Amino acid sequence: MSHRVCPWWLGYFLANPIRRLVHDPPALLRPFVSEGMTVVEPGPGMGYFTLELARLVGRSGKVVAMDIQPKMLAKLRHRARKTGLLDRIDARRVPGDGMGLDDLKGQVDFVLAFAVVHEMPGAGRFFAEASAALKPGGRLLLAEPSFEVSEREFAVTLHLAGQNGFRVESRPAIRWSRSAVLVKI
Ligand SMILES: C[S@@+](CC[C@H](N)C(=O)[O-])C[C@H]1O[C@@H](n2cnc3c(N)ncnc32)[C@H](O)[C@@H]1O
Repeated sequence: MSHRVCPWWLGYFLANPIRRLVHDPPALLRPFVSEGMTVVEPGPGMGYFTLELARLVGRSGKVVAMDIQPKMLAKLRHRARKTGLLDRIDARRVPGDGMGLDDLKGQVDFVLAFAVVHEMPGAGRFFAEASAALKPGGRLLLAEPSFEVSEREFAVTLHLAGQNGFRVESRPAIRWSRSAVLVKI
């Protein structure tokens, strides 16, 4: 169910501060992220959530963000540099058929997958990689845009997560989204 990849210029809209009226990064992320954590964020775009993740993990933590589009990553790095957070962010370009997380096996505390899994060529492979990277009991917050991903498609995504090392812990209400908190089994 791979959808079209979001064009790079849409990244500017997604990173606009007005979005806080709908998706408030501190409110969404604080329940999951704390000082010293290692966090993975596939598909960060221009870093709308990445900067808040970097603030929450503090100086002793890190955020590994991977995207397929160099323009998204360039703007993310620019914004992170301006806010003094770049040293906590490892922004990686990936080819799209995997996240290249072998160096983080069993070390990750939290994965944020916001509006990205439906753009991936294989959700099953993504969940398997995320599960291998997470520590036991680690969480993944999954949110997919409800105007693009049908309830049926989301059910298939959750099924794939279940087949690849996760159980659904809760279904939080996130505006304009179909969402779930997944726990590594
Ligand atoms: C709709 S945007 C969401 C950006 C950000 N998560 C947000 O909510 O503002 C999707 C992002 O995922 C990236 N992406 C798409 N397929 C990907 C893949 N297979 N691996 C990593 N990133 C991917 C796109 O380049 C884009 O930056």
